[in-house]
Amino acid sequence: MHIDVLEKRWMWLVGLMVVIMLGTIFYTALANAVHPPSNVETIDSTRLHLSEEFAEDKLGVETMADGSVRVTMVAARYGIFPQHIEVPLKTPVTFRIATPDVLHGLHIPFSNMDTMVIPGFVSEVTTQFQFEGEQPMFCNEYCGLGHHYMWSRVKVVAK
Ligand code: CUA
Repeated sequence: MHIDVLEKRWMWLVGLMVVIMLGTIFYTALANAVHPPSNVETIDSTRLHLSEEFAEDKLGVETMADGSVRVTMVAARYGIFPQHIEVPLKTPVTFRIATPDVLHGLHIPFSNMDTMVIPGFVSEVTTQFQFEGEQPMFCNEYCGLGHHYMWSRVKVVAK
């Protein structure tokens, strides 16, 4: 079968692109622990304010017996509550987040904390912050007209 030289080059180029893209996925997954959330836990979104865990006065940062930290948050149109949290440096921090309304996505720059928050589910992400200082936590899934107002502050402090 005859294949044109130009066509052959394109085939190699496409093959190379596939290898680079798959390589990037495997590298970030294995070296940087970047992966989709694996927590499948359901919750009644319409009754968040009455739940044991996500009622308004239960939100915030809590230090567990083993020294790790748990952060309970609610992402709702248009804010992330609490609006300001403080977490320790280089310590396992587990975020548990739910939403009472629509799909949101939460991201903290310079960390691998990045998750979708889906109505009906609890999103759980465990990470360790490697840099001190204050970062925004913002919504990166378009959720309505006030999407760009939806952010809060995360301060990472030395233990
Ligand atoms: Cu919430 Cu965009």
